[in-house]
Amino acid sequence: MLLDRVKPLDAILAAAEKKSLKRSLGAIQLMLFGIGCIIGTGIFVLTAAGAQKAGPGLMLAFIIAGAVCVVAALCYAEIASTIPVSGSAYTYSYATMGEFLAWTVGWALVLEYAIAASAVSVGWSGYFVGTILNEFMGVQLPAWLAAGPLVLGGAEGGFINLPAMFIALLITGLLMIGTSESAKVNAVLVAIKVTALTIFIALTLTSAYFDPDKFNPFLPAGLFGGFGSGVGAVGAAATIFFAYVGFDAVSTAAEETKDPQRNVPIGLVGSLVFCTIFYILVAAGAVGTIGGQPIMGPNGIPFPAGSEELARQCMMPEHAQALVCSNEALAHVLRQIGFSGVGNMLGIAAFLALPSVILVLLFAQTRIFFVMSRDGLLPEFLSKVHPKWHTPHVVTAITGCVVAVGAAFFPVGQLADIANAGTLYAFLMVAIAVMLLRKQRPDVKRSFRVAGLWLVGPLTIFGCAFLFLNLPSEAMFVLPIWSVLGFVIYFGYSRSHSHLGRGIVEVVDDIEGVEHAIPIDTPESRRD
Ligand code: ALA
Repeated sequence: MLLDRVKPLDAILAAAEKKSLKRSLGAIQLMLFGIGCIIGTGIFVLTAAGAQKAGPGLMLAFIIAGAVCVVAALCYAEIASTIPVSGSAYTYSYATMGEFLAWTVGWALVLEYAIAASAVSVGWSGYFVGTILNEFMGVQLPAWLAAGPLVLGGAEGGFINLPAMFIALLITGLLMIGTSESAKVNAVLVAIKVTALTIFIALTLTSAYFDPDKFNPFLPAGLFGGFGSGVGAVGAAATIFFAYVGFDAVSTAAEETKDPQRNVPIGLVGSLVFCTIFYILVAAGAVGTIGGQPIMGPNGIPFPAGSEELARQCMMPEHAQALVCSNEALAHVLRQIGFSGVGNMLGIAAFLALPSVILVLLFAQTRIFFVMSRDGLLPEFLSKVHPKWHTPHVVTAITGCVVAVGAAFFPVGQLADIANAGTLYAFLMVAIAVMLLRKQRPDVKRSFRVAGLWLVGPLTIFGCAFLFLNLPSEAMFVLPIWSVLGFVIYFGYSRSHSHLGRGIVEVVDDIEGVEHAIPIDTPESRRD
């Protein structure tokens, strides 16, 4: 039977028991971690793609995507507090739905974490090239070195995004030698990001350029552009969902939270609500000042974001300054309304802060691969731990190279959409897992329980499926194609090498020296 290999929950709980981390985190600390993982390329860069899909309706898109994330976050929080070991959605699925489905989740998480890391690298590159090289150093990087071939359809000379590749490899190197971000560095980066966005909001909303007429028409591509079309407010929500990805890494801190029943929902939901409000205000400021209407194709439908046609339109003088054409959307808005210096400062903020998002995503990816390899589903050499660095250096290096290739050759919007496809699948499976676990093991201790799970769970499933179906069809189809490749590996290798399949019950926990997917380095949060 395909669904019979379920990892025994009691073995997992026994391992978790041994770990017993001290409960030292409060709601505010959780919120800070959340905001640190969440704010990144989504708001700093994808605002342009979101506006191309929805126009001013981008504000509504942020609300739709944020709402789906809030219910998903509650499911994550409960299951993470019930099964507090490494592996995230993959481990939760292994303990509730069995190995095969767990494999599909682990395989989809590659899209979530690795492809998202590529997307953030490309986002970083936009700010590096625009602000650091162009504005500060006066250096014009040749087009063929600043964008992948698929960005401008090759027609405008894109060949390789060298800065994006560089940052992905640099972060890989740091992770290999065991760098993990300290809580202090995280707090500083959160302060930088939040300050940059606050200044953006204040300057744009009070600007003389701000004109309520710019919000008209509010939904130029409609609320719902049709499944697979990737346009309209819901299509934009499916893309801009990326701006919230990362909070699931925080849910793993549930086991270290004081009074988790109170603090976990406040921390997780609080960070999502905080980001949603900021995102809506940022979108309002951007659209209200320089306008955010999409560039329409001849059929009255917006040109697809990241497409060759759109790139050509953006070359035309009448569109050159459009929000939807910018690679560094927020800095561009400030420059357009007379705050070039502040725009450059915002560019520096993105330049400094985005690498930490890449670090969290890459870290999470290597950890999932590590756990899958320790379970025997991936070759054992992947889980080799370096004797000195105490890191899974082999899997980190391989993952980093794949991320760097993605970053070098693909456009940010398409990478984000593909990452969203994998993430939405994983979130949906977590919602199923948390409900199953309530039925299968009502006796197990849950340090955080979702109130109204039987409403929250189905809402998460519906919300994720709905957003998935509103991704552009190319991104949607990547998931089944990726899954077929996953099936080949599972049936060709993993199923016969599975430790559980061979009767070995083993629970993998963290690697010595690299304990957290999120930065928690206060002395009291260390192991006793
Ligand atoms: N939410 C993260 C970002 O927007 C992944 O960069």
